[in-house]
Amino acid sequence: MGHIILGIESSCDDTSAAVLQDTTLLSSVIASQAVHARYGGVIPELASRAHQQNIVPVVDTALKEAGITIDKVDAIAFTRGPGLLGSLMVGTSFAKGLSVAHNIPMVEVNHLYGHILSPFVVIPDTEHREPQFPFLCLLVSGGHTQIAKVNSPFDMEIVGSTIDDAAGEALDKCAKVMGLPYPGGPVIDALAKEGDAEAFTFARPRIGEYDFSFSGLKTSFLYTLRDAVAENPNFIEERKADLCASILHTVVEILIERLVKASKQLGIKDIAIGGGVAANSLLRARVAEEGEKRGWRTFIPERRFTTDNAAMIAVAGYYKYMQGEFAALDVAPKARF
Ligand code: KG4
Ligand code: ZN
Repeated sequence: MGHIILGIESSCDDTSAAVLQDTTLLSSVIASQAVHARYGGVIPELASRAHQQNIVPVVDTALKEAGITIDKVDAIAFTRGPGLLGSLMVGTSFAKGLSVAHNIPMVEVNHLYGHILSPFVVIPDTEHREPQFPFLCLLVSGGHTQIAKVNSPFDMEIVGSTIDDAAGEALDKCAKVMGLPYPGGPVIDALAKEGDAEAFTFARPRIGEYDFSFSGLKTSFLYTLRDAVAENPNFIEERKADLCASILHTVVEILIERLVKASKQLGIKDIAIGGGVAANSLLRARVAEEGEKRGWRTFIPERRFTTDNAAMIAVAGYYKYMQGEFAALDVAPKARF
C-alpha cells in the first residue's frame, strides 16, 4: 500500500496537516488564522494560541479525509524550523505526542526544503511532471527570497538571496502603508490587475549577481507616497491600483532578472518557484513567459501548495524517511537555520 506519511506544518500563521501515500496526496487541510488581520501582521503569541486550538481538529480532519487511521501512519513529518518559535513548538510537541502514543517514527523537516520540494507532490487526477536534479528554485515568501540550486532532496546550495527584506515582506509593508489589510501580497495581486504598471517607477537594486534587495524599493515607495499625499490627501485612494501594479511589476522584474541570469550562468533550465509570493499571478505568468522564450521546463505548483502547507512538509519528510533519517524524541524546534 506504500508508505503513509502524515505531515504537520505550524511555522507561521497557518496550521496545516496532510497525508501522503509515498508522494501521492491523499488529503491536505489548512487552517489560516484570521486573528492577525486587524493587527496588520502576525502576532507570535496569538499565532501559537491559534495553532494550539487548531492542531487537533486539523490533523484529525486530514486523517479522516485521507481515509487513514493513525495506526496506518508510517512516519510523522513535522516542520522543525525556520519560523516562529512558539508556533513551531506546537507542531513539534504534537508530533512528539503522536509519535510516543502510537510508536510512529518522526522526521524533522526544514520549512524551506518543503517549499522547494513542493513540485514533487503528486496530485491525483492531474498531470504530474517533476523537475530533474539539479534544478533551480526561486523561493519567495514572507521570510525568504532566494535562488537555490537543488542537487537532491537533501542538498541545496543558495545561489543568491536577499540582503535585507524578503519579497513578500516588501509587498506586505507597502500594502500596510497604503492602508490595505494583512497579508498585503494577495491584495496587491488583485488590485494590480486594474492598474498601470508603468505609472510609477521605483528604485531597483544594483548589487551582486544573484542577490536581492528590497529595502531601497520600499523607501522609494514611501517617499513617493509622502510627497504625493502632501499635495493630494486622496492620492493613495485615487491611485491605489496604479501603485499596486507598479510596485508589483518592480518586485517581479527584480526576481525574474536574477533568475534568468542564474539559469544562464549555471546552465540549468529546470526552473521551479515556491513560497507564498509564488502564488502571485504576475510572477507566475512572467516565469511561464520567460520559460517559453528560453526553453525552460517550468514547475509552478498549484497556489495552495505555494503558500504554507503540510503536503510539502510531508513530501520532504518522505524522502528523509526513505533514507532512514529519523528525529530523536528530544528534538527542539529551531527558529533560524
Ligand atoms: O510561504 P508563505 O505562506 O509564508 C512564509 O513562509 O513566509 O508566504 C507568505 C507571503 C506573504 O508575504 C504574502 O503576502 C505573500 O506570501 N503572498 C503573496 C500572494 N499570496 C501570498 N504575494 C503576492 N501575491 C500573492 N497572491
Ligand atoms: Zn513558508
